[in-house]
Amino acid sequence: MQSSVATTRVSLDKLVSLCKRRGFVYPSAEIYGGINGIYDMGPLGTLLKQNIRDAWKKSLANTNFDIVFLEGALIGPHAMWEASGHIENFHDPMVDCLVCKHRFRADDIDMAKACSHCGNKQWTEVRQFNLMFTTQLGAASHQSTTAYLRPETAQAIFINFKNVLTSSRVKIPFGIAQMGKSFRNEITPKQFLFRMREFEQMEIEWFCKEETALAFFEQWLQFRREFYRTIGIQDARIRVRPHDKDELSHYSSATSDMEYEFPFGWKELEGVAYRGNFDLTQHMKFSGKDLSVYDDATKQAYVPHVVECSVGIERLFLMALCDAYCEEEIEGETRIVLKLSPKLAPIKAAFLPLTKEQVVPMEKIYQQCKALGYELDFDVSGSIGKRYRRNDEIGTPVCFTYDFESSVDGAVTARNRDTMQQERIAIDKLEEYLRRVVIGK
Ligand code: GAP
Repeated sequence: MQSSVATTRVSLDKLVSLCKRRGFVYPSAEIYGGINGIYDMGPLGTLLKQNIRDAWKKSLANTNFDIVFLEGALIGPHAMWEASGHIENFHDPMVDCLVCKHRFRADDIDMAKACSHCGNKQWTEVRQFNLMFTTQLGAASHQSTTAYLRPETAQAIFINFKNVLTSSRVKIPFGIAQMGKSFRNEITPKQFLFRMREFEQMEIEWFCKEETALAFFEQWLQFRREFYRTIGIQDARIRVRPHDKDELSHYSSATSDMEYEFPFGWKELEGVAYRGNFDLTQHMKFSGKDLSVYDDATKQAYVPHVVECSVGIERLFLMALCDAYCEEEIEGETRIVLKLSPKLAPIKAAFLPLTKEQVVPMEKIYQQCKALGYELDFDVSGSIGKRYRRNDEIGTPVCFTYDFESSVDGAVTARNRDTMQQERIAIDKLEEYLRRVVIGK
């Protein structure tokens, strides 16, 4: 089922409210006042996030490249983060207003102007603030050592590169992919899921020979661009922006951001970076272990180069909602509809009996379809109009209604979320309809 394009530009406030109201996202620890930059996923958010992971994984499989998966630890030792450059370089510039004590990222504000919070113009010096969360390992304070919650998943891939190479049958070029939590003590978490303190990343590190790296870099950019098309994101709202030399991270010699036009402007969605062989070389230096690869052809050892694609799941989640959100005027009322690709939609179809008498036969059909393994909903509460609106608002691609005709013609009505058009579908063809039309298999 092809979803149509949403043209509404949604404000972040509306999206935050919808996410809470419908069970996508809640502020974490809300009953204790919340915690800035940290969110919990509700029932629908959990499903949407899983669909994002599945789509990403499938997009890697579609490349036909050799890619294996890894699940690294969240906590890493000091030496590891020293080697990666995060102890020395993973800073943001921080400044405080001397009057109201409000804290800002110095690169977010114009310090020649007054504080946006209190109107005074008295600033502290700009200090560098390391974004990594520290923790202590061990019970006795005099024996404990400082360790760090990972600020990116990538390093777990680099430190395991040789383990993967020797324990599986992969050969250069190949990729190691990982999805998992990352933590950054952002000075000013903001824009809802855009800049968080605890979030999840999906990263792929592509190991190759130096002479092939730039061609792979271009190819990965194409793959990633195509991925956003396959999950239905509007082409015009995505662009690729190469980094200027002075923007490049300490490890990168070429990076392009895939940017999305969020309600607050064009912002980075995903980074595609040519990291050279910086990471493996650093880990060799700091650990004393050999991470080079022997090339049978040249009879020489070399340290592979790396192309990385890295995206935050919640940032992608936020983008998908911004892209899908639509408000339409229908008979004097506003209809809110999430025109999500069926691939991402948390609920694939809702089953709605029209009256009490129709609950039992409809539930039977619902249970049969549910056995196919799709997330479906059975909804009996409220008028049919209200049930349609509820499902529109959470992006359910199709609603099936069992009505007065159904016991006679053996069919249900399928109502399309985007067009609101209705068609009769034979009950014994429903599974096929779901598989082919809704899920697209
Ligand atoms: N391994 C490379 C790396 O971590 P990055 O540009 O710092 O590079 C990659 O982060 C992606 O992770 C970003 O493009 C974004 O999608 C996501 N991301 C980074 N910081 C984030 C934050 N504070 N909240 C949500 N997502 C974040």
